[in-house]
Amino acid sequence: MERKASMGAIWCMVVYFAMSAAADSKSSFYDNFSIMWSEDHFKTSTDGQIWYLSLDNDTGCGFQTKQRYRFGWFSMKLKLVGGDSAGVVTAYYMCTEDGAGPTRDELDFEFLGNRTGEPYLIQTNVYKNGTGNREMRHKLWFDPTLDYHTYSILWNSHQIIFFVDRVPVRVYKNADYENNFFPNQKPMYLFSSIWNADDWATRGGLEKTDWKKAPFVSSYKDFTVDGCQWKDPYPECVSTTTQHWWDQYEAWHLTKDQKLDFAWVQRNLVIYDYCQDTKSHQRPWTAKAVVQVAALAAAASTVTVMCV
Ligand SMILES: *[C@@H]1O[C@H](CO)[C@@H](O)[C@H](O)[C@H]1NC(C)=O
Ligand SMILES: *[C@@H]1O[C@H](CO)[C@@H](O)[C@H](O)[C@H]1NC(C)=O
Ligand SMILES: *[C@@H]1O[C@H](CO)[C@@H](O)[C@H](O)[C@H]1NC(C)=O
Ligand SMILES: *[C@@H]1O[C@H](CO)[C@@H](O)[C@H](O)[C@H]1NC(C)=O
Repeated sequence: MERKASMGAIWCMVVYFAMSAAADSKSSFYDNFSIMWSEDHFKTSTDGQIWYLSLDNDTGCGFQTKQRYRFGWFSMKLKLVGGDSAGVVTAYYMCTEDGAGPTRDELDFEFLGNRTGEPYLIQTNVYKNGTGNREMRHKLWFDPTLDYHTYSILWNSHQIIFFVDRVPVRVYKNADYENNFFPNQKPMYLFSSIWNADDWATRGGLEKTDWKKAPFVSSYKDFTVDGCQWKDPYPECVSTTTQHWWDQYEAWHLTKDQKLDFAWVQRNLVIYDYCQDTKSHQRPWTAKAVVQVAALAAAASTVTVMCV
């Protein structure tokens, strides 16, 4: 009798947890995101948990978070456009505004498509107050079109780390000096978009998008934020109280294992590093955007580039 009762209680709990998990997993894209443009190029899986952005000869598509955050851990799984994706760029980034305004801060992952069988590259960049020019390019150690992989950003007032499957591929330090080029003052939204960049992306613009292969689709799932959600005028979590793991001492530096992984990435996967590029006007690609940014950077000549 007693046993029966307790079984019943356990069963009740199981049902309760199953129901709350189901309620959780039904959280909709629209709870946390909105579409920036071309709603008709956006789709979700039937259960709403996988999202698809598509690009055709008419337009691409983009989404953004409703909330802004300042500091934390930001993560998502992406599966990139497969097959012949030359000219197609999927951008996954954080930015202070919905646009390319002259005073924005931005942290970028850009995935540069390629011809069938040729490797994708990832390009990362950091902007502060409208100036970028801090590009790096990396090869990957897997084909990012075959499966979902996790791309994450850790951001605190000491460092910004770009992670691929938990491997730190780029570490951007706050050198903490005057005129420092470290974006830490403004909250950012998280965005993703797919667009045609065949004027610069693949082999410097030599490889054009083959529209016969359209639509080009990138897929997303498992969005995670563990960070400080912005509230006007100033959320308490933003001050460096070290109350959160992403703000604690361990998150100010790479761990021992991360250092080993990072060294391996540096030795084997870096294709381009602005720090090594003494003639920065001779980047291995040309981009209208880059030219504009260079003009802005020239105007803001007080910014000192410091590489770490
Ligand atoms: C997502 O939206 C829900 C409902 O509005 C909100 O409670 C939650 O904080 C949001 N999550 C993030 C990571 O912003
Ligand atoms: C765009 O693609 C559609 C479908 O393949 C085609 O019918 C249309 O002519 C194309 N438009 C342009 C401007 O190339
Ligand atoms: C940011 O850039 C704007 C316009 O380029 C400039 O007027 C402003 O002084 C800059 N702000 C800082 C804090 O450097
Ligand atoms: C595309 O493939 C070519 C040939 O393998 C390679 O040189 C290039 O770096 C790849 N990626 C991009 C974005 O051009």
